Amino acid sequence: MKRYYILLLISTILLSCTTQDKVRDTADFTDNWKFCLGDDSLAYNIQYDDSKWRTLNLPHDWSIEADFSSDNPATPGGGALPGGIGWYRKEFTVGKSKEDKNFYIDFDGIYWNSKVWINGHFLGERPNGYISFRYDLTPYIKPEEKNVIAVRVDNSQQPNSRWYSGSGIYRNVWLVTVNPVHVDHWGTYVTTPVVSEQKAEIKIISNIRNTESTSQNADIYSILVDAKGREITQTNGKLKIDAQANGEIEQSISIEKPVLWSVENPYLYKIITQIKQNDKIVDEYETPLGIRYFSFDAEKGFFLNGKSVKIKGVCNHHDLGCLGAAVNTRAIERQLEMLKEMGCNGIRTAHNPPAPELLDLCDKMGFIVMDETFDMWRKKKSPYDYSQYFPEWHEKDLTDLILRDRNHPSIFMWCIGNEVLEQWSHIDADTLDLQQANMVLNFANTLDKKNVKPKELHINSLLTVKLADIVRKIDPTRPIITGNNETEPSNHIFRSGAMDIIGFNYHEYNWIDFHEKFPNQSLIITESTSALMSRGYYQMPSDSMSIWPERWDKPFDRPVHHCSSYDNCHVPWGTTHEDTWRLVKKYDHISGVYLWTGFDYLGEPTPFWWPSRSSYFGIMDLAGFPKDIYYMYQSEWTDKDVLHIFPHWNWQEGQDIDVWAYYNNADEVELFLNGKSLGKKSKTDDQFHVFWRVPYKKGTLKAISYKNGREVMTKEVKTTGEAVSIRLTADRQTIKADGKDLSFVTVEILDAEGNAIPVADNLIDFSIEGNGFIAGTDNGDPTDSNSLKKPSRKLFNGKALVVVQSNKNSGKIILKAKSDGFEDVSIEIKTSK
Ligand code: GAL
Repeated sequence: MKRYYILLLISTILLSCTTQDKVRDTADFTDNWKFCLGDDSLAYNIQYDDSKWRTLNLPHDWSIEADFSSDNPATPGGGALPGGIGWYRKEFTVGKSKEDKNFYIDFDGIYWNSKVWINGHFLGERPNGYISFRYDLTPYIKPEEKNVIAVRVDNSQQPNSRWYSGSGIYRNVWLVTVNPVHVDHWGTYVTTPVVSEQKAEIKIISNIRNTESTSQNADIYSILVDAKGREITQTNGKLKIDAQANGEIEQSISIEKPVLWSVENPYLYKIITQIKQNDKIVDEYETPLGIRYFSFDAEKGFFLNGKSVKIKGVCNHHDLGCLGAAVNTRAIERQLEMLKEMGCNGIRTAHNPPAPELLDLCDKMGFIVMDETFDMWRKKKSPYDYSQYFPEWHEKDLTDLILRDRNHPSIFMWCIGNEVLEQWSHIDADTLDLQQANMVLNFANTLDKKNVKPKELHINSLLTVKLADIVRKIDPTRPIITGNNETEPSNHIFRSGAMDIIGFNYHEYNWIDFHEKFPNQSLIITESTSALMSRGYYQMPSDSMSIWPERWDKPFDRPVHHCSSYDNCHVPWGTTHEDTWRLVKKYDHISGVYLWTGFDYLGEPTPFWWPSRSSYFGIMDLAGFPKDIYYMYQSEWTDKDVLHIFPHWNWQEGQDIDVWAYYNNADEVELFLNGKSLGKKSKTDDQFHVFWRVPYKKGTLKAISYKNGREVMTKEVKTTGEAVSIRLTADRQTIKADGKDLSFVTVEILDAEGNAIPVADNLIDFSIEGNGFIAGTDNGDPTDSNSLKKPSRKLFNGKALVVVQSNKNSGKIILKAKSDGFEDVSIEIKTSK
């Protein structure tokens, strides 16, 4: 106890020191914005009257506020995306004490076509909806007076995306206050040129900005700090920076026996960059550091810190289900926790630059990230997509992404394009801008990379070389890759010779003999599978063997818009999960795979159309509830004991039911129906499940897994009785009172014995009291056309979800649930500072 108080005292002292002496203030700038959906050309003015506008906190996605009840053709695939134009304004003041400071506003991402003003001065525009950017406010800011930031967001040209993009200032915003001599935006580059278990050499390049009108001398300190915040060692050097210019300093630090960053132990050091002038600290800036080494071997795959690691990854789009595109750290963390539990170790940020919070979490939690930039280059995939901005903006966008992200230890690959149409030549004519093409050509002709003679290359290969070169100049430490659905060497991207690793999307029949066409090259499956499933919906494989697995290019008769959860349905270009994993597991030269997708996402409701509005591809549904296939991966990808049987046991007498089990750490599984054994089954090398065909009788289905004859695990599924009550279960019952934290509450209907009814579809109404609000509701049903913000939801196959968000007052939140025929229930969630 005494120790605790001493620690508390020390940390309080430390905290007060740091707040008093804060030389760099990165303030959360997301509270109290005004918002108006619609356009008004005068809204950039400082005097503009926005008193009638709505007040809200960012991040904000206005598209998620609509319902999906009409077939809006705006988004391909049927998910309605109400775009339009929106304005945001924020009033703020800064104190007189800040008169000689520099102010920057950092936007993590605005979708899209944003224009920003301060006090009526135009700061700039940014078409790309996923890129982070900064504006310098210093010349226009007025201490002790009202300042107004105005942002116009134009998402009116539709469709501009193949998936749900969201609209608005959907990521975080920061107000950065620094002294005139400071570390520039994304101003450090920390690499580890030498790493082993014995030793690491750390190279730190710091880019220092001086906004004074005279040149400045500064001492630059680089301090290496361990995961507990303890200083290990430091170095320093002198730098003279010209007036209103930048200066760069390179330093290095050595460390003995570093703790290496790995998927299992993502150990994070930190480099603290301190700038001192006349012995006074004028800036302090932190850069995360994970010390690790890795390689891709053409024959043996991926190695991390000298150990072979199969990349078991998923692709994810950026939306967070019922929260839409509005970023929320806890919502991302929950997704990553569930993926970790499944044994997943990789994330592909399909198909755009991610929120910085995702990368911070991947650093901390240990994921192998493929950071992606573009879904298209010059050639468009949707009528109004980024291809229209690519010629003017690709260089800036790509440069900024690499500068922003290159210090993240979790990033192992830069993916510069997904299935871009430049893989082929034949569609050149429609979008080729001759002037641009010539620029690319001239640039590329000056290069002679990897013995490729650029003049002989097609324009699309030259563009590939150019893009790769932009990346390599900023970060030569990571391989460059693209996701390709043309897997022949004739692909212009491959022919460019600019790729470090070959990335295949799908085309599993080309994986095994890959080296015949790509000798000595490394392979990773950048995307695969695209299996289709609705959680809790079953079409027995034994009943439909003639079209097994189901594909929509074969007879596909489906009045309900649902796909079966037995891993027996996939798109024509995809595979079942088991077929993908069988190959990836078996062949060492396949470095790994990023499955399409970890979570269902809004948009792209293949193989259906409206009223479906979200995808069927996820291993988890849109609400984050695992589908059965989750446990196949858990049994293959983790060491923990797994036994999962499905489907539920609420069928009609006389039906024949396929019962499947995923298991591991056992030799066999025995199935019992109402106490009677239906036999033992073992997996074969080629099959990751066992199954029984069982004539249905109500009662209890029980599975036992055995290892050397001893029981490992038991699982039961029961026929449920009449519905009697509602159950609410929160993933966390205490959350932070920070206005951002979330509790995810699962809603189920129970029978008298307390079993959750797997087929329940009751409509539940929610209300909330206390220090929080309902941020969204969902059930994982891709056909539910109600707004995801609505405080009521039908259960879908037995489950619904309420996302509860705190406000900034500590205390409690009471969430109540009501449904016809049931007693009201409630759950209490505490919120604390
Ligand atoms: C891929 C594409 C993804 C997604 C997927 C659906 O070809 O890269 O973005 O559309 O198909 O199967």
